[in-house]
Amino acid sequence: MKKITVFIGSPGKQATYKAVQEFVTNLKSQMELDFEYVFLSDYNLGSCKGCKLCFNKGEEYCPLKDDRDLLLEKINNSDGIIFATPNYAFNVTAIMKNFLDRLSFVLHRPRFFNKAFMAIVVQGIHGGTAIVKYLENIGENFGFQVAKGCCLTSLEPRTALEQKKITQELSKASVRFRKELMRTTLPIPSFFKLMMFRMSRKSINVILNENYRDYCYFKEKGWFESDYYYDVSLGFIKKLAGRFFDFLGNFIGKQKRRT
Ligand SMILES: Cc1cc2nc3c(=O)[nH]c(=O)nc-3n(C[C@H](O)[C@H](O)[C@H](O)COP(=O)(O)O)c2cc1C
Repeated sequence: MKKITVFIGSPGKQATYKAVQEFVTNLKSQMELDFEYVFLSDYNLGSCKGCKLCFNKGEEYCPLKDDRDLLLEKINNSDGIIFATPNYAFNVTAIMKNFLDRLSFVLHRPRFFNKAFMAIVVQGIHGGTAIVKYLENIGENFGFQVAKGCCLTSLEPRTALEQKKITQELSKASVRFRKELMRTTLPIPSFFKLMMFRMSRKSINVILNENYRDYCYFKEKGWFESDYYYDVSLGFIKKLAGRFFDFLGNFIGKQKRRT
């Protein structure tokens, strides 16, 4: 049975929770699932001090002793992840942002390649589409397989028409999420994703060394030699493009090392 964990950035159990509950009901009607709601406000998360020890030495050197690893473990033990947040001042809530800050080292060392991801944003008026995109970008860079998320708009109390639209959006979103959840093979990367991987791995190789956690992580994973983060058969054109991106990454990395 697939396990889904929903991380909720709302300070209370209101519109965002209700939306997620409806999403979960839809998904449960399509397959048997194990669900967990994680209300981030119930956990102890300190605010990042900016020491960058997690980036440079490793996450275990973080001076904050809080629930970060407990929450990370919940992601590790899941097949699918939802980040759900209200729109607060055109952004995720502070609670959700703090959670993302605490996990920022994963952006340097992606790992969740076999897990599905979706962002759900709930708002009163507008600005939420950009937040969905922002969360999707985080999801991609964490390594997740990202299903297109949704932004639900309505001021309370909702009209029947607004509720109908939300119900339809949540129903479609659950189908998209299920598709990623049931994926049996990992996708061939787009040119953009290939470029990001090849240029960053070259820069890490050229600029950093064994004193840095990112360098060791990439080395342990065999990423300095591999075509991509995971086993994938790149076609001729993408193989060629990959070499070009390696060349660019090498060039930029060497320039940076000189400065
Ligand atoms: C501090 C605060 C800031 C908000 N900023 C926005 C905003 O920029 N755009 C918007 O459309 N709605 C905004 N809203 C409305 C919420 O996104 C909306 O009420 C949402 O449904 C709240 O979700 P919740 O009930 O799960 O907390 C804001 C609400 C609060 C409390």
